[in-house]
Amino acid sequence: MSEVPNVTLNTGAEMPIIGFGVFQMSNDEAEASVLEAIKAGYRSIDTATSYGNEEAVGRAIARSGVPREELFITSKLWLADYSETKAKEGYERSLGKLGLEYLDLYLLHQPFGDAFGAWRGLEAGYDEGKLKAIGISNFNTVQTYDLNFNARIKPAVNQIETNPFNQQVDAHEQLKELGIVHEGWAPFAEGQHDIFKNEILGSIGEKYRKSIAQVILRWDIQRGVVSIPKSTDPIRIKENFDIFDFELTDDEMKQIAGLDQKLKMVDHNDPAFLKFLYDRTL
Ligand SMILES: NC(=O)c1ccc[n+]([C@@H]2O[C@H](COP(=O)([O-])OP(=O)(O)OC[C@H]3O[C@@H](n4cnc5c(N)ncnc54)[C@H](OP(=O)(O)O)[C@@H]3O)[C@@H](O)[C@H]2O)c1
Repeated sequence: MSEVPNVTLNTGAEMPIIGFGVFQMSNDEAEASVLEAIKAGYRSIDTATSYGNEEAVGRAIARSGVPREELFITSKLWLADYSETKAKEGYERSLGKLGLEYLDLYLLHQPFGDAFGAWRGLEAGYDEGKLKAIGISNFNTVQTYDLNFNARIKPAVNQIETNPFNQQVDAHEQLKELGIVHEGWAPFAEGQHDIFKNEILGSIGEKYRKSIAQVILRWDIQRGVVSIPKSTDPIRIKENFDIFDFELTDDEMKQIAGLDQKLKMVDHNDPAFLKFLYDRTL
């Protein structure tokens, strides 16, 4: 099995450049898929309070037999727990459900509500050693600068939507400048916009006998973006991890760069989206 390259967080900890996402999985799917993923070689798993499957992920981790210190487990705090006190309750709840003594990374899932209060709660978890690294998700550049400027403990990661149609080129550079790792969610745009039929990605894949999914993940990691593809299919779970035996050329990286349309799946600047989030929360 190939060694997975790591990125180094601002805490000094190492994070695998590829992980496994479990959004929109039932408990049964999450338990089975995480077990498959760990068997395939993934060591990093990305879940969240709002996915409702932390317990199932925890069962898979326990059943995998892989030592805890070889795994990198991420979860996220939901908006309902956004205050200093509630954030502490939130990460304790995540730890309890996952059956873990610590999380490798815990993120503020959304940049809204009392995010600064919640961040202080996460800082307490970091101080206690229960959260080995803390970070953010879906923060735009201004929100990231603002939190980074005011925080006692700087965010280690920003997890943002990133795929060939929404490449986040500016955000990538700004995060790099701040020493924050860019982690990309929905690397396949959840299959939207016929991404798996794209001719440019397909022709690059043919050259290496790789699928479009593999080309996308390779492009992500070659630009230094941590990628967390989701699949419930054991064959695709393996396929998405089999990306360490080929390398895209500069010209191919440029061809993929040309696909960017800044096409968002969700728009965090749209009040309707905020309303949607709060309707699910309160
Ligand atoms: N922070 C946030 O707000 C946020 C938001 C969204 C997602 N995320 C994280 O990012 C992870 C990934 O994003 P996502 O789950 O939204 O979507 P995604 O990974 O972009 O796409 C998943 C879709 O692609 C399909 N697929 C996977 N591998 C494939 C392959 N090799 N060939 C063809 N189809 C394939 C899956 O189907 P099958 O399952 O049938 O294979 C599923 O329909 C999530 O699971 C979650 O951990 C975070």
